[in-house]
Amino acid sequence: MKWAVVLCALVALTECMHKVPLYKGKSARETLEEQGLLDKFLKKHPYNPTAKFNSVFARASSKTLTNDYDLSYFGVISIGTPPQSFKVIFDTGSSNLWVPSVYCKSQPCTNHKTFDPSKSFTFRSTSRTVAIQYGTGAMTGILGYDTVTIGSIVDKSQVFGLSETEPGSFLYYVAFDGILGLAYPSISSSGATPVFDNMMNQGLVSQDLFSFYLSRDSQAGSVVTFGGIDPSYYTGNINWIPVTSQTYWEITMDNITVSGNVVACSSGCRAIVDTGTSLVIGPMNDIANIQSSVGASRGQNGEYTVNCNIAKSMPEVTFNINGVPFTLPSTAYVFQRTSGCSSGFGQDYNDLWILGDVFIRVYYSIFDRGNNRVGLAQAA
Ligand SMILES: *[C@@H]1O[C@H](CO)[C@@H](O)[C@H](O)[C@H]1NC(C)=O
Repeated sequence: MKWAVVLCALVALTECMHKVPLYKGKSARETLEEQGLLDKFLKKHPYNPTAKFNSVFARASSKTLTNDYDLSYFGVISIGTPPQSFKVIFDTGSSNLWVPSVYCKSQPCTNHKTFDPSKSFTFRSTSRTVAIQYGTGAMTGILGYDTVTIGSIVDKSQVFGLSETEPGSFLYYVAFDGILGLAYPSISSSGATPVFDNMMNQGLVSQDLFSFYLSRDSQAGSVVTFGGIDPSYYTGNINWIPVTSQTYWEITMDNITVSGNVVACSSGCRAIVDTGTSLVIGPMNDIANIQSSVGASRGQNGEYTVNCNIAKSMPEVTFNINGVPFTLPSTAYVFQRTSGCSSGFGQDYNDLWILGDVFIRVYYSIFDRGNNRVGLAQAA
């Protein structure tokens, strides 16, 4: 496959980028809200520290998911021959690929697509198991190998999880079927080779990196590009930030300021850039500080609400990273919901900051495995 790489160096770069559209589906929050179940659900699952990936938790330090019901950008992939298609979250905060399977009898498997290995003649089974824990749900299953098609990329002999159980009701309410993890192999459950590692090993990408553009529009326009950086999605320079731990896409943040005053992360902190988390998440005290300095107040269920009338005049919040200021205007961090406005900052009992979709919508994000760095540029 190396000739493809050579070819890619000769032809226009855009020919060699594999663009995969992402869609913004209805989030679990919206579905619950529509069905009048949100309050009940939030009461049952209060703001407790729950690991998004507990298996990962043990190996790398923690990344947690604090009632993140807004998780909603997904893309379509297919597995097997002939292809069976699935909606998956392209998640830079985890490393495993898994989809529901016909072996699963749990509630979320009744309203999602399930993979049937007996209908794919390229499937290879294993006896290795996999278990991944989320804050509000979980999956256990078995690993298998098959061809995974992602946009124009045909990723052969890709190991993935076929779910056997998906306990809890959270996954029942989400628009996506499974998850495609794009973090480092060191945090992959059961040591399963991640999709992007398998792509690099097969020489399927011309550069060992992928880039995310998350659109602010309600549904279409978002894209993940494998093997390239697409200049049509950003303006200005790309600021490169070294990865400080090859687990999640972890970087070091200098401080967070509002109107020039440091309000959080005062002596530096660790942060991960995570497409699979919708909000910007940080430690309780730091987040409380940010909320009060922008004028958000604590509502029922521990959520922070914002007066919609003043949303436009709220101050910018600046994340200083590697000596460069990355600013979020209130239009980026205030959510307009049917029930009112709420803040895009979420709290956790953890020291690790999570720069989720609220941040990535403003900054085109490049995940460079070749140089172990994250590139951030103003999204177009
Ligand atoms: C915040 O971090 C930046 C570097 O990104 C630094 O220049 C600035 O002095 C820091 N602010 C304070 C008040 O420490």
